[in-house]
Amino acid sequence: MKVVIAGGTGFLGRALLQSLAADGHEVVVLTRRSTDRTMTAVEWTPNGQSGPWASAIEGADVVVNLAGESIAAKRWSPAQKQLILDSRVQATRSLVSAIRAVTNPPPVFVSGSAVGFYGPLGDEIATEDAPPGSDFLARVCVTWEDEARAAAALTRVTCIRTGLVLAKDGGALPPMLPPFRFGVGGPVGSGRQYWPWIHRQDWVDLVRWTIRTADSGGAINATAPNPVTNAEFARALGRAMHRPALMPAPAFALRLMLGEMADALLLSGQRAVPKRAERGGFSFTYRTIDDALHAIFRRK
Ligand SMILES: NC(=O)c1ccc[n+]([C@@H]2O[C@H](COP(=O)([O-])OP(=O)(O)OC[C@H]3O[C@@H](n4cnc5c(N)ncnc54)[C@H](OP(=O)(O)O)[C@@H]3O)[C@@H](O)[C@H]2O)c1
Repeated sequence: MKVVIAGGTGFLGRALLQSLAADGHEVVVLTRRSTDRTMTAVEWTPNGQSGPWASAIEGADVVVNLAGESIAAKRWSPAQKQLILDSRVQATRSLVSAIRAVTNPPPVFVSGSAVGFYGPLGDEIATEDAPPGSDFLARVCVTWEDEARAAAALTRVTCIRTGLVLAKDGGALPPMLPPFRFGVGGPVGSGRQYWPWIHRQDWVDLVRWTIRTADSGGAINATAPNPVTNAEFARALGRAMHRPALMPAPAFALRLMLGEMADALLLSGQRAVPKRAERGGFSFTYRTIDDALHAIFRRK
């Protein structure tokens, strides 16, 4: 199988690439700057249009779209929020234009999205049928998914609504660790907000499952079956690291430090569950937060 991954240089793309390549699949990465000689990379300009790079998509079996400005790397100024939105819209529009332009479009298009689609929720369960929220991240996800669905007449489009992906070497987990290491870790804010986590290995396996599952078009929640509140997450992290997890980080301090990002990324969440993956028979390796975190922190 030939798989093209836009944004395949990132935290999730690299893991997907390694998994596919290990099984003998041909993987081509679309990147804005090709510096890594360990992968087959094609330079592209995700500006909303197709380009010469579209030849990489010709005859591909799958295109995976993970490109976009990081949502957590910088404080959300109005310009940064615009970049977060525009980078996803433009990259997706470029891929859809290329899918339209080639003679043999890929039969499968897996495009990024996030559980932020549902907006901040309380303890009600969010399956893929839940309506979208109305905050900034929800509007980004809705627009991003709409762009991807423009290819639906030509290919099977799956939007992966990814939760908080856990791994030791990237994503949201490493920045959380220092306070725990120093024994001052704990819940953030009230701790009652749900965090819909997923182990990175399960995320990779789930994306591969959607690729080979004929009726996986539409939205798929990429989250573990047992989301936990932030307080439960903190206790589980403390157990996995053999450290206390009693020191709460007050909401006002986080808001002072991070502005709007604090509410959107830390102080709120969704109790999202993977209804479609479970109904379709996908088998999670890490079903509970203790399993996932113990695997991540297990000494080799
Ligand atoms: N990690 C998570 O927990 C999580 C959770 C929910 C949703 N997601 C979504 O899943 C996708 C992949 O996540 P990730 O953690 O792998 O992200 P990542 O590590 O930031 O990688 C994203 C890739 O997108 C490309 N990129 C960065 N800025 C860009 C811009 N302004 N315009 C176009 N391309 C740009 C980069 O590739 P080049 O520099 O090579 O072009 C980068 O490697 C993202 O869209 C993210 O929002 C991730």
